[in-house]
Order: sequence, then C-alpha cells, then structure tokens
Amino acid sequence: MSLFRKKSMASLLAAAEDSEKGLKRTLGAGSLIALGIGAIIGAGLFVRTAAAAGGHAGSAVTLSFIVAAIGCAFAGLCYAEFASIIPIAGSAYTYAYATMGELVAWIIGWALILEYALGAATVSIAWSEFLNKLLGGRIPFEWCHSPFESILDVNNVTHTGIINLPALFILLVLSLLLIKGTQESATVNAVIVFIKVAIVLVFIAVGWNFINPANHHPYLIPADAKPALQPDGTQYSYAPFFNHGWGGVLKGAAIVFFAFIGFDAVSTAAQEAKNPKKDMPVGILGSLVICTLLYILFSWVLTGVAPYTDFVKSGKEASVAYAIDTYMHYKWLATLVTVAILAGFSSVILVMLMGQSRVFYTMSSDGLLPKVFSDLHPKFRTPYKSNIILFIFVGLFAAFVPGSVAGDLTSIGTLLAFVLVCVGVVVLRRTDPLLPRPFKTPLVPLVPILGMIVCLAMIISLWGTTLLSAFIWMLIGLLIYFGYSKNNSKLKS
Ligand code: ALA
Repeated sequence: MSLFRKKSMASLLAAAEDSEKGLKRTLGAGSLIALGIGAIIGAGLFVRTAAAAGGHAGSAVTLSFIVAAIGCAFAGLCYAEFASIIPIAGSAYTYAYATMGELVAWIIGWALILEYALGAATVSIAWSEFLNKLLGGRIPFEWCHSPFESILDVNNVTHTGIINLPALFILLVLSLLLIKGTQESATVNAVIVFIKVAIVLVFIAVGWNFINPANHHPYLIPADAKPALQPDGTQYSYAPFFNHGWGGVLKGAAIVFFAFIGFDAVSTAAQEAKNPKKDMPVGILGSLVICTLLYILFSWVLTGVAPYTDFVKSGKEASVAYAIDTYMHYKWLATLVTVAILAGFSSVILVMLMGQSRVFYTMSSDGLLPKVFSDLHPKFRTPYKSNIILFIFVGLFAAFVPGSVAGDLTSIGTLLAFVLVCVGVVVLRRTDPLLPRPFKTPLVPLVPILGMIVCLAMIISLWGTTLLSAFIWMLIGLLIYFGYSKNNSKLKS
C-alpha cells in the first residue's frame, strides 16, 4: 500500500556511498562526542533545571535527570544501531522511511520540526533572558517577553509582555550566518564545548561549598508543601499530582528531558564521520554519558545552594546567575557564567536551525515538501529559502510564545520521534534480519520496549494544553501529507 511504501535499503546505502565523494570524512569519535555536547548542553540545563525543581521535583530534580537519562539511553542505543547501519543524514526521518514506510517517516519528520525548530525558539528565548540579566535588566519586560507573560513590579504595577525582541535578534543573526554558509567548524565547536563544560565544572566546584544541607530536605516535595509566590503575585500550589512527590519527579523528567535533546544531532553528521560504523555509537552514547554525569552534579549543587521555592519566583530568569548572585555573592562568576552561557546557547540554536534545514532538505528532495525547501543559493550553496521561511516560523514562536510552552512542545516532538525510532529497530530486525549491523542494540526487544515506555510516560506527564497543541500540530501534518505530500512523493509510481 502506498502509505507504507519504503525507500529501499539498497538505495539508501548507495546514496551514502555516493555522498562520500562530496563530503570529507573528518570527524573522529572525539569530535563527534564534542559535537554532541555542543548541541546538548544549553537551556535545558541552565534554565529548565530550575523550572523543574521549583514547580515539580524540588531537589529530587536529580532523580528527574536520571529518569530522563534512562529514556534517552534506551532511545540512544536504538539510534546507534540505525546510525551504524544507515550512515547518512536525515536522522530518524530517514531510518523510518527505510523501515516503517512513508507515512511514519512523514510523522517523524513533522515531529522533528517540533524538536529542531521549536528547540531553536526555546533556546533563543532563554538567550534573551540571559542577555537581559547581563545588561542588568535594562531591557523593559514588555520587549523581552511574550504577551502571555506578566510580572508585578516593586510598585505593584503589572507589566505584560508584547514581543521578545532579543530572541528575534539572535535568530536573525544565526539564520543569516547559516545562509552565508558559515558553519561552525569542528574546532570552533570544540572551543565552545570547552567553555561550556568548564563553566559547568566551575559552578559545581565553587557551588559545592555553598550547599546548605537543609535545602535538600525533604528530598521530594511533600504533598502538603506550602504554596509558593509567583512573579505575577499569585500563589503556586504543589497539591496537584504532578507538582510533588514521584509525580513531580516524572513531570520534572519530562521538563529536563529538554536538556538531553541534541544527542541525536550526532546522527546527522554520519556522512562526515571517519568511521561511522564504530564512531557513531561512541559519539551518541559517549556524549549522553558525559552530559548525564554533569547534569546530576549540577542540579544537586543548584538545589543545594538555593531553596527550590525560590525558582518559582525569581529563578526562571537566568536561574544559575541568580543563584550565584544571591547565595554565593560572586558577581564576577555570575557575569562570566552568563557570557559563557550566551555563547553556549548560540551554538545550540545554530545546530538546531541547521538540523531543521537538513531535515526539510531531505523531505523536500523526497518530494514530501515543496521544492522551495531544497533550493540552494547560487553562490553560497545553502538552502537559503528554507532558512528564511524557518526564521519566520521560529521567530513567531520566539517572539510571542512563552519559553516553557515552546520547550514542552519541543520535548513532545522529540519524545515521539524517539518512540518511533525504538519501534523501527524492532521492525527492521524482523523485516531484514540478515542486514549487517555493525552496532547492535542489546536485548532487543526489551531495550526498545523500555525506551518506548519511559518516553511515553514522559509524554503523558506533559498532559494538558501542550499535549493538545502537539496533537493539533500532528493533525495539521496529516492534512498536509494527504493533501500534498502523498501525491508529490518521488516514490509515487
Ligand atoms: N539540549 C539543548 C538545550 O538544552 C537543546 O538547550
């Protein structure tokens, strides 16, 4: 049936061989791990840790990181098997096209738009918050927040956001950079990664001495915790199931899951890897392990330095700098951390925007999206039209949607893609058992099934308007598929 028509494995592998002529295989395992870390450490750690701790998990946000890491590890093992078999760009979308057919591939591609495009929007919103922090809060609230956010100032006057201009600014700069073709070289990426990791380590080492053990007790938020004051003057209640105890840990996992997004970006560099069959799994799983360790230590220190209730009121804005400023009194460190974080966020946004244009490019080359998404600039050889459309789309979200909403939508889209990659591994083992698999996911089908369960549990804990928005997004996707893509697919016979 045409909905399930597949790209043949032979044609994909031939494409991989072909592209070897064009792309230089320069990345070894070390550079791939650096690429992963470059895309992984960002707003998830520096912003959403505080949001998860403040609203849901308390100091048990460390457990939230472990739950999210387990889900990612299972999915990562499945990604690694695919990346070692099909070492070409396009990531989960391409894997699905070869295993589960066109409709599922479309669904994944459509979900990846949530991951990459909205991921870029979320990080640009965080960038805006940290920039304002660096400028001493000089940007008026109205011009750096969405219309859905408001704050009560010291004179009891309510300020409501109009548009997030700094977020739009950084997106514009990076989109122009992408059009010009200025890609981060592995070296530049390595420098940013070095700075990012150094800052995380400095924060852990310096902050360790400022941990107040009382902040870690009780470890999980009790059901009868007192409500906390929110920036708009209202009270935040911990009574709902997902706002305390283990429910809160799970919800916290879904929120900090954002911090792991990006390890799959390693799989899009498969064509540039020296020895993809061996190095891909090392790059994907290695960057995951390193980040998980850093995250657990970091969140332990952050929730030890400041009580979690602080983050309901003040922590959302540049939480790390806030904690250093308020409890450690090292102004210089707060400033240094803020500058490093701004640089770090920029690389995440760049990789997200680049990843999105690559997915669009592949989908458009397959005929599932209009040709405009694969039109190349005559001089720069970049998909410039796609970059411009992407800037408008991502910019609308960044300018008018709160960071937490964009972040949750990003997580749902990514989790959905992960679930489908887990399914794909099991399907391919059945449909093509003899295919050479340089890296094999262990314990199939147990690992993929556990991956699906953990990821689905996180999706469910994001229940509410965000999930509804994600459903609407997927419905729009299906309408486009049946209205356009199905009839324009290159595989249409
Ligand atoms: N993992 C990336 C971040 O946290 C998307 O910013």
